[in-house]
Amino acid sequence: MEVVRVEGLGKTYPGGTKALEDVSFSIEKGEIFCLLGRNGAGKTTLLRILATQLRPTRGRASVLGHDVLANPKAIRPHIAVVPQEARPQMLLSPFDHVFYMCLMRGLSRAEAHTRTKKAMEDLGL
Ligand SMILES: Nc1ncnc2c1ncn2[C@@H]1O[C@H](COP(=O)(O)OP(=O)(O)O)[C@@H](O)[C@H]1O
Ligand SMILES: [Mg+2]
Repeated sequence: MEVVRVEGLGKTYPGGTKALEDVSFSIEKGEIFCLLGRNGAGKTTLLRILATQLRPTRGRASVLGHDVLANPKAIRPHIAVVPQEARPQMLLSPFDHVFYMCLMRGLSRAEAHTRTKKAMEDLGL
C-alpha cells in the first residue's frame, strides 16, 4: 500500500521563491524514507505540504490515499510530525505532554489517560 504519493509537486512562495519544482515519489507502508538535501533545498516545504499545513502551487500529493488539498481533515488524525523546532514545555511532566496531545487530537479524558499510561509503560517512564 502506498502511504505517500507525490506527483509533479511544485511550490512557489508569494515572494517568488521556487522551493519545489516537479517533485515525484511514493512511499510504501512500512518503508523508512529519508529525504536529504542542503539547507534551503525544500525539505521543510515538502513536509509541511504533506502535513497539510501548506498548499502546493502545482501537482498533487496524497497521504493514506487522501489528497492533501481536497481532504486534509482525513489525513490529520493519522499523522505525527516532529519538527526541528519542537521544544518540551519545561513545567509539564512527560505524562502531561502526551496527555495534552491526546486531548488536542480529540480523545476523551478517559481515552487520553489510558493511551498516555500505555505510552509511559512502553517507554519505561
Ligand atoms: N514562508 C516562506 N516564504 C518565502 N520563502 C520561503 C518560506 N519558507 C521557505 N522559503 C524558501 O524556500 C526555500 C526552501 O526552504 P525550506 O523548505 O525551508 O528548505 P529546507 O527545509 O530544505 O532547508 C528556501 O529558499 C527558503 O528560503
Ligand atoms: Mg528545514
